[in-house]
Amino acid sequence: MDKNTLSITDNRTGTEYVVPIIAGTYPKYGAAINALALRQIKVGEDDFGLMTYDPGFTNTAGCKSAITFIDGDRGILRYRGYPIEELAERCSYLETAYLILHGELPTPAQLADWQRQIMRHALLHENTKKLMEGFHHDAHPMGMLVSTVAALSTFYPDAKKLSDPVLRRLQICRLMGKMPTIAAYAYRHGMGLPYVYPDDELSYTGNFLNMMFRRTEVKYRVLHADHEQNCSANDMRSVGSSQTDPYVATAAAAAALYGPLHGGANEQVLRMLREIGSKDKVADYIKRVKAKEVRLMGFGHRIYKNYDPRAKIIKRIADQVFEVTGRNPLLDIALELERIALADDYFISHKLYPNVDFYSGIIYQALDFPVDLFPVLFAIPRTIGWITQWEEMLNDPDQKIARPQQVYTGHDCRPLPGIRRTV
Ligand code: SDX
Repeated sequence: MDKNTLSITDNRTGTEYVVPIIAGTYPKYGAAINALALRQIKVGEDDFGLMTYDPGFTNTAGCKSAITFIDGDRGILRYRGYPIEELAERCSYLETAYLILHGELPTPAQLADWQRQIMRHALLHENTKKLMEGFHHDAHPMGMLVSTVAALSTFYPDAKKLSDPVLRRLQICRLMGKMPTIAAYAYRHGMGLPYVYPDDELSYTGNFLNMMFRRTEVKYRVLHADHEQNCSANDMRSVGSSQTDPYVATAAAAAALYGPLHGGANEQVLRMLREIGSKDKVADYIKRVKAKEVRLMGFGHRIYKNYDPRAKIIKRIADQVFEVTGRNPLLDIALELERIALADDYFISHKLYPNVDFYSGIIYQALDFPVDLFPVLFAIPRTIGWITQWEEMLNDPDQKIARPQQVYTGHDCRPLPGIRRTV
């Protein structure tokens, strides 16, 4: 018998089934069985057969992917095989974005062309600006981003021609170019400031910060570029699987990222630290967390059951930022939270460690970004991850429209009580 198989005995019938095991690059992480193979396990001819039941996909692979590898137990994160620590230290965001999308690092000429292609699409159609001016003065910038990215779909009808790789590439460059502009315009709208037009003479991150408020470059965006099958990437694939255009799929992914359990956590971390208020109140807050009254935002992760490698790097960068901006008092509260949590059995037994959102918010706040802009600052660099997951899905022969099953627990068929005539 082929060793790469699973033998399943259905004790209801005594029948044994042999199911092939699908292995990825690392059998230790990539072994799976095709869920459809379970449908043959029946108790009778008209039986539907078995499914897997897995709310939140805690143990279900929705696709095969070669983009990002995570080892949650050992705190490993690699983009196309390169460790995040080396990319964060030695590559710019656009170099890393090129790697994620193309699978290899760019030559200097390829990087220059990639930057040129993206920066020439940084400008927004003037009607997009009018659309953004219609938002309420205190509209949440994430709501503005999701809506405006979706609206790009109406400006570029050629985006629906998904089978044309040249047109797909054009949409990718448009999205990469316009996300920072939409984000900066959303910020300026909230501040009541005039929009600053993109300057394609500047670097990608330099242009973004120039449109915001002229700032030095920040490098940790590399860390946010992709993260395998997270909630928003899954959304990009699921919405994209219906063959919709990449703009509305990206808007759906950004909508998922907006949630406080996902990319919205960095905003919630700041609000939590402000609510705690001082180091001496941290112990009381931890008690509330353990009593399950509140969650420790910026802690915990579905995959990392060890320290998120990105949090380690961001924590190091925080020290560099505070040398320039001055020490942020919220950092002291965050460090005290981490010190207590990492020594407390509740967090150890639940394997709750700081994730990428725990320290990034403190840095954004030290750089004078408004708190409600934090998820937008996550969405900008994550755009390349969503786009690459979408492209990989489109090119995957195994992929089809996402349409999960369910386990029905409702009423059996029942007659309507009496004849009810509706007027
Ligand atoms: C991101 O998936 C990705 O890769 C996402 C991301 C990316 O780059 O795309 O890494 C970005 O989203 C990071 C996560 C940011 N979110 C937060 O910081 C919000 C706070 N954390 C959580 O709510 C939670 O940890 C999740 C959502 C991140 C993960 O949730 P899971 O895996 O579904 O775990 P769970 O909610 O089922 O919790 C398991 C247990 C529960 O306790 P018990 O009922 O078993 O006793 O752990 C507890 C939870 O109560 N728990 C927490 C906690 N997170 C989980 N308890 C207190 N504080 C927390 N933060």
